[in-house]
Amino acid sequence: MAFFVAVFYTKNMKQRPRRNRKSQAIRDLVQENSLTTKDFIAPLFILEGSNIKEPIGSMPGQNRLSIDLAVEEVKQLHEIGIPCVSLFPACPDSHKTPDAAASYDPDHFYQAAIREIKSQVPEMLIMTDVAMDPYSSDGHDGLVDPDSGEILNDETLEILAKMAVCQAASGSDIVGPSDMMDGRVKAIRKALDKHGHKSVSIMSYTAKYCSAFYGPFREALDSAPKAGDKKTYQMNPANVAEAEIEAYLDEQEGADILMVKPGLPYLDVVRVLRQKSQLPIAVYNVSGEYAMIKAAAEKGWLDGDAVMMEALLSFKRAGADMILTYFAKEAAALLNG
Ligand code: PBG
Repeated sequence: MAFFVAVFYTKNMKQRPRRNRKSQAIRDLVQENSLTTKDFIAPLFILEGSNIKEPIGSMPGQNRLSIDLAVEEVKQLHEIGIPCVSLFPACPDSHKTPDAAASYDPDHFYQAAIREIKSQVPEMLIMTDVAMDPYSSDGHDGLVDPDSGEILNDETLEILAKMAVCQAASGSDIVGPSDMMDGRVKAIRKALDKHGHKSVSIMSYTAKYCSAFYGPFREALDSAPKAGDKKTYQMNPANVAEAEIEAYLDEQEGADILMVKPGLPYLDVVRVLRQKSQLPIAVYNVSGEYAMIKAAAEKGWLDGDAVMMEALLSFKRAGADMILTYFAKEAAALLNG
């Protein structure tokens, strides 16, 4: 009986998708998306001092590095073919003030790190972070009104513009506003141009969601908000049409690259921006996504390498052109064989 049923169903079957899966060779020929080391941007955490390497507990394999060790790390990343690093400062409390003034101090260690990496590894693209939170005693990405607790948008723009200009003067190739204030791309573009930094790019954190997946990052920088949350500026995880508004505005204001963040829980948003915009699309595979895979692999519950590569490939399939990921070095090592 089963035989007749099989004949009935297969008699007119012209399409047999399995033909395109019959060998590794044909699977390679029909493969639609692939990963290369050129897709990766490696985030690095920098701290003051020399010869310091502080492991980050919730991000196994990631460290806070002093400038000298960060330079060594960047040299290695360059050798294995990674085109870009994204730098974040881990500031001691003594650098944190309500107005985040250390963020545009040319003598701050973050600026020294940019200069040092640029001079030692000039081919490496340096992306820098434009947001107040690592330098803010309030732990927010914008200025906090001391009376109402409100995050002051337009007052924050001036600080962000100064920060971007300072980073550009230190040698940043790409500034990455991660703050989600309205109008920041326009304010930053205007300030950069005015100060002669016309070729410095803006990778805007366009659709940055108010996500619990940033937990390990905030531990790494000790940058969690002291009061309240980031819901009045970061996006509601329930929304996707709103990401199109953000993308439209960032394009109008002069962004060069649009980013979606986090990555894995927001692949649909990557897809939408890919379809709606002609600009390159970046995705940030954030700290919590890294921590989940690392934790499960440590327990032996998942094959860490395989899951890492599958997750990274999913970003390409969704439409991302580049991936900020703490897996950059490990994934590159696997790709390089
Ligand atoms: C803040 C910023 C955050 C991250 C990058 N920039 C955290 C936040 O918004 O609180 C998170 C990155 C990660 O989790 O890997 N400007």
